[in-house]
Amino acid sequence: MPIPVYLAPMCNVTDIAYRQLCREHAGITTCLDMVSARGQLTRDETPPLLPDDGVQLLGGDPQYLVPAALQFPDAAFIDLNVGCSVRKVVRKGQGSALLKDLANLRRCVEALVDACPQPVTVKIRIGWDRETLEDTARALKGLDIARVTVHGRTAVQNFSEPADWGAIERAVGLFDVPVVGNGDVTSFERATWMMEGTGCDGVMVGRAAINDPLVLRDIEQGEDTCRTPEERITLFEEYAGLVERYGNVRFAQVRQHAVQLCRSMPGAAKKRMAILHSTDVEQVLAVLGEQRSPIQDKLE
Ligand SMILES: Cc1cc2nc3c(=O)[nH]c(=O)nc-3n(C[C@H](O)[C@H](O)[C@H](O)COP(=O)(O)O)c2cc1C
Repeated sequence: MPIPVYLAPMCNVTDIAYRQLCREHAGITTCLDMVSARGQLTRDETPPLLPDDGVQLLGGDPQYLVPAALQFPDAAFIDLNVGCSVRKVVRKGQGSALLKDLANLRRCVEALVDACPQPVTVKIRIGWDRETLEDTARALKGLDIARVTVHGRTAVQNFSEPADWGAIERAVGLFDVPVVGNGDVTSFERATWMMEGTGCDGVMVGRAAINDPLVLRDIEQGEDTCRTPEERITLFEEYAGLVERYGNVRFAQVRQHAVQLCRSMPGAAKKRMAILHSTDVEQVLAVLGEQRSPIQDKLE
C-alpha cells in the first residue's frame, strides 16, 4: 500500500505553482500555507486554490477564525496552525502559543468544526518547551477532527535538533483521530521507518521537498531514486511554466526555488549568485541552461 504523503505547508515556498508541480509528479495532498485569519477578513480576495487544496489558518480567536474559514468554501479542508513559533505570532496567542492555552485551543477547534462544512485538521508541535502531547490530546478529545499532524519538535526547538519520532509514536496512541507524522522525512526509506516505527497514518514532508520535490514521488511510489542535473533543470522549467499559467507568484520566490533546485549541481555556488542577480525567469533559465552538457545539446 502506498504511504499517504502530504506536502507540508511552507510560507514563501508552497505557492500555487509549486503545489501543482508537486501534484503533477506525486498523488499528494497539498495545503495553502498559513493565512492570518484576521488579515484575511480585511482583504477583498482569497488566495487562489487548486482543486482539493486545503487552507491553513493562523489565529487564536474563533471570532476571526470562523469567518475567515467561511471565505474558503472551495477548500477541501481547513487546517489550524498550532505550530508557528515566530515571536510576533506567539505574542498574539496564535500558532504554537495555543499549546500553552489548551482551553482556547479547544475553543478555536470546536468553533471551526461546528462552522465549517469541510473537514477540519490541526497541525501541532509536540509541546511548547517540553512534550505535552497527553494534555493536547485531552484538550482535543471528542472533537470531530479529521486528522492531526504532529511536527516532532517543541515550539522552542529549532531545526538543529532532530525531530522526536518517539513523541510521534506516543501521539498515535493518545489521539483518537488519524495522526500524520512530520519532521525529518527526507526519502522513501525514512518515510517507511517513520510509518513502521511510529504507527502513524501518513507522513508530511517539508524541507526535503524544497530542493527535491520528486522525493514526494519516491515516497508515493515506494522507491528512492536520484536526480540528474538535467532532471532538476527540467523540473524548474515545468515550475516556470506553471508560474506563467497561474501568474501570481512573486519573482523572488521563483528565484528562491531555482536556487534550491540547483543546490546539488556542479558549480552550484556560482549559479546561486547568478540566479540571485537575475531579474526575470528567462535569465534564471539561461543560468540553469548553462548546466546542460554538450552531449545533451547535440541530442536536442
Ligand atoms: C520555509 C518554511 C516555512 C514554513 N511555513 C509553515 C507554515 O506556513 N505553516 C506550518 O504549519 N508550518 C510551516 N513550516 C513548518 C513545516 O510545515 C514543517 O512542519 C517543518 O518544516 C518540519 O518538517 P520537515 O522536517 O519535513 O521540514 C515551515 C517550514 C519551513 C522550512
